[in-house]
Amino acid sequence: MNKAKESGAGSAVSTGLRGVVAASSSIGDVNGEKGELIYQGLNIHDLATKSTFEEVVFLLWNGRLPKRAELDELRKNIAASYELPEPVATLIKTFPADAEPMDALRTAISALSFYDKESRDLSRAASIRVATRLTARFPTTVAAIDRARNGLAPVKPRPDLNIATNFLYMLKDELPDEFDAHVLDVALILQADHELNASTFTARVVAGTLADMYSAVTAALGALSGPLHGGANTAVMKMLIEIGSLDKVEPFIKDALANKKKIMGFGHAVYRTEDPRATHLRRFSKDMGERKGDTKWYEMTAKIEELMKSAKGLLPNVDAYSASTYYVMGIPLDLYTPIFAISRISGWTAHILEQYADNKLIRPRAEYIGPRNVPYVPIDER
Ligand SMILES: CC(C)(COP(=O)(O)OP(=O)(O)OC[C@H]1O[C@@H](n2cnc3c(N)ncnc32)[C@H](O)[C@@H]1OP(=O)(O)O)[C@@H](O)C(=O)NCCC(=O)NCCS
Repeated sequence: MNKAKESGAGSAVSTGLRGVVAASSSIGDVNGEKGELIYQGLNIHDLATKSTFEEVVFLLWNGRLPKRAELDELRKNIAASYELPEPVATLIKTFPADAEPMDALRTAISALSFYDKESRDLSRAASIRVATRLTARFPTTVAAIDRARNGLAPVKPRPDLNIATNFLYMLKDELPDEFDAHVLDVALILQADHELNASTFTARVVAGTLADMYSAVTAALGALSGPLHGGANTAVMKMLIEIGSLDKVEPFIKDALANKKKIMGFGHAVYRTEDPRATHLRRFSKDMGERKGDTKWYEMTAKIEELMKSAKGLLPNVDAYSASTYYVMGIPLDLYTPIFAISRISGWTAHILEQYADNKLIRPRAEYIGPRNVPYVPIDER
């Protein structure tokens, strides 16, 4: 952290905290130059091709991959917590049908704290149990929100299904295609952690006050909802729909860039080369399109990729191809960010556990640029 302010030596502001190292963490690392992402030392490409989301959850929380019995135990504990406490299931039914799903999710997750007797116990053992309940209940909550706004009763979660399969099952009230469930499982792995991104940093700031995990996660959901962070995937799909067809991509992008508009799904605060998550999602977008006989959205995204690379040297990030992948899977546009949250809850909770284990209040300084010594004018004389 910059010590200049404390020493009175003047301040060097890093706008947006770029380049500032604000925590030591063993959870994940992003090497922007190499395009490398690791979780607890394991390369994301290995995890994306060999692992499961539940294994990654264990890895993020415990710093190593689980043995079979440990994974079985975690799966059992997650499945046992899939169901929502009845008052929260009822609360969801009272939300306005046109509520943004991220707002609904934030409110429901915050309400879950009322029904968790361990929420104020910040010991590691209790916090792992709270994290397990949160991880189990995010998908149930998102599915219940979508069904409630469509006037449908929630689908009871099935403890025999993994998180990805169960989510798609609860969303549509039918067992998903195996490929769809696999793609979602890998998408959850890919989005699980990304070092001190805005929502994770938010979660750590709140946990750093020794507030409970629900408060930290609720705040993180707020940060994730913004279009510059988790909201970008929905924005990508809206843009593709607005463009409409492959032949209109080029004029649209040229016009947008000429007008200094940002193209969602491209560019990254850290990666200067290919975002390794985009590598897998590009493949899924193509495969999913081919399987469902609708490759148009993949082709349009690929064309945008080509244009953005030559015009601005900007590359696709995690959101560019997740949009078309989810769209072709039949997932409503405004659930893309809640799905990101279903994944990222694992990273948030890992960071909160790490923050609790070695806590220091996070309290940076601001460079004051306002006036000083302003005389106080009584109200009737202003
Ligand atoms: C992610 C993001 C916020 C990173 O931003 P950053 O590191 O702060 O980079 P900046 O916003 O300062 O951009 C640097 C330059 O590239 C341009 N740029 C960055 N991303 C761009 C995009 N998606 N479309 C068009 N131009 C872009 C900026 O306009 C700026 O150009 P300038 O130097 O001529 O002003 C930014 O790339 C962005 O807004 N992308 C779109 C949103 C998105 O996909 N977010 C999800 C991230 S996972």
